[in-house]
Amino acid sequence: MSYETILVERHDAVTLIQLNRPQALNALNSQLLGELIDAFAAFDADPAQRAAVLTGSEKAFAAGADIKEMQERGFADMYGSNMFAGWERVTATRKPWLAAVAGFALGGGCELAMMADFILAGDNAKFGQPEVKLGIAPGMGGSQRLTRAVGKAKAMEMCLTGRFMDAAEAERAGLVSRIIPTTDLVGEALKTAALIASMPPLAAIANKEMVNAAFETGLAQGILFERRLFHGLAATEDKAEGMAAFVEKRPGVWKGR
Ligand code: CAA
Repeated sequence: MSYETILVERHDAVTLIQLNRPQALNALNSQLLGELIDAFAAFDADPAQRAAVLTGSEKAFAAGADIKEMQERGFADMYGSNMFAGWERVTATRKPWLAAVAGFALGGGCELAMMADFILAGDNAKFGQPEVKLGIAPGMGGSQRLTRAVGKAKAMEMCLTGRFMDAAEAERAGLVSRIIPTTDLVGEALKTAALIASMPPLAAIANKEMVNAAFETGLAQGILFERRLFHGLAATEDKAEGMAAFVEKRPGVWKGR
């Protein structure tokens, strides 16, 4: 499939996906959603690809869902088409991917960044859920993911006032894993993704599934899920190779099985 709203590049085992609607600060319209779903599915299906980076521009990761598109759509249309349910196909991506966020990540842009396994922030990043100012509310998971990430007080304040959080506050609050100078952001994100891509692939997916389970289950269930996956990894050739490589003081060579 050829894309008009995103750019996709392969950097060895890392897929770089860049949102590319600069005229609209990468606002997320339905065409872009369709193209992102396709790009993530292609990434997940390609055995040569092991990690991905999603980024925008230096000015904007994404300034939200496309307000001009939403302006025309009423309740019956949104409810009938289950608007935004397609984002669940992006979060269904099994392989690890991270968001490299510079500039504005607002509304759906913040929500999309929070769908990533983790966020690296440029030092100019600004996160916000300003939907209330438009007479609406988050619709792509923001009220849930932001609250889980930064706690009720900050999430509630941001949703009720539309206040933006800068990169330093986002790091303090646990929304982002690290801050990088914006000019180095994509390079550092690619390096981080390459490091993830160098890990045994089944173990990487299992680690992702375990951490995600912490958001979706109770503690006892999550710990049992973790333990069973841990037991399951013992059946992989990569586990035998990883431990042999450690003992023999050499790098492991992974088979992905
Ligand atoms: N949708 C559609 N177009 C958008 C957009 C959006 N979310 N955000 C910016 N644009 C467009 C602007 O309309 C403008 O286009 P024109 O030149 O054709 O007028 C262009 O991008 C550049 O934007 P600005 O001139 O506004 O740039 P700025 O630097 O002055 O301001 C900004 C930047 C503060 C991010 C401002 O653009 C802004 O407030 N954008 C809207 C942010 C927002 O409310 N996001 C939430 C959307 S609702 C949502 O996301 C729902 C959900 O939960 C899924």
